Amino acid sequence: MGAEVAKDRATLQNSSIIDARTLENSHKRLAEVIKPGMTVLDVGCGTGAITSGIAEVVGPRGRVIGIDNNQDLILKARHLYKDNPIISFEIGDIYQLPYQNEFDIVTSARVLQWLSRPKAALQQMVQAVKNNGSVLILDYNHTKISWEPEIPKTMQDFYDDFLRWRSDAGMDNEIADHLPDMFSELGLSDIKTTKQSEYTKHTDTNFQTQITIWADVAAIKGIQMVNDGFISEGQRSQAEKDFRKWINTSAESQTMYLLAVEGKKSKQ
Ligand SMILES: C[S@@+](CC[C@H](N)C(=O)[O-])C[C@H]1O[C@@H](n2cnc3c(N)ncnc32)[C@H](O)[C@@H]1O
Repeated sequence: MGAEVAKDRATLQNSSIIDARTLENSHKRLAEVIKPGMTVLDVGCGTGAITSGIAEVVGPRGRVIGIDNNQDLILKARHLYKDNPIISFEIGDIYQLPYQNEFDIVTSARVLQWLSRPKAALQQMVQAVKNNGSVLILDYNHTKISWEPEIPKTMQDFYDDFLRWRSDAGMDNEIADHLPDMFSELGLSDIKTTKQSEYTKHTDTNFQTQITIWADVAAIKGIQMVNDGFISEGQRSQAEKDFRKWINTSAESQTMYLLAVEGKKSKQ
């Protein structure tokens, strides 16, 4: 299965979830380690919501570049943050980063989960970071998601098929737990893992937004899965309907397993 299939299945059709993220609530380990004056590359920056928070911290003595291969998202990011001279947004591919030894921190949040060759992408990020700088990746293990109470069987079946559809495109559903070994194989040192799981319960203000992600996946990615022959339209629509009803009548909480993994580049 080629990289083009992964690219097609990864394309983000709706940016409302990523638009609502902030550095503090959605990339907590990075928020702890960045300092004024740093240079930071944010790979797969989307519409720049987290990137703009990075720029606020590094301040006028620092510099931030956000890069993404989705032109629409980059155009939106450029428009939103056009008055901030510290940030620039570039259209570019994670597999061909045009940087060598340039940044104090190279980060990528929730991006490697969508790639068929995550280690090749990580290698590019290692090249882009300075000696003694850090690579910091934030990503999921989708096999460790949990909901309370159990979700409807139709939706559980849909979710299992969704993971199978992702694997079929070469994506690693457990990427978070494979990152420490990849870091070590690429020569990074001082590897540190921090749990950042996204837990939301029904009394939280953002509960609807967080839990509706999966209804939206059924509505949007589900159509691609039907077109790719993984499920029938009947299975997709029933899963979406049952899950939306479960959200409104029973949902208590959701935990998405997320890890921040960081490592240092020594002189090479
Ligand atoms: C789930 S979004 C995460 C956005 C943001 N980092 C966040 O945490 O909210 C994944 C992003 O990775 C980008 N992406 C996927 N494949 C890419 C590639 N090959 N090169 C650059 N960006 C890529 C997508 O366009 C999308 O903006």
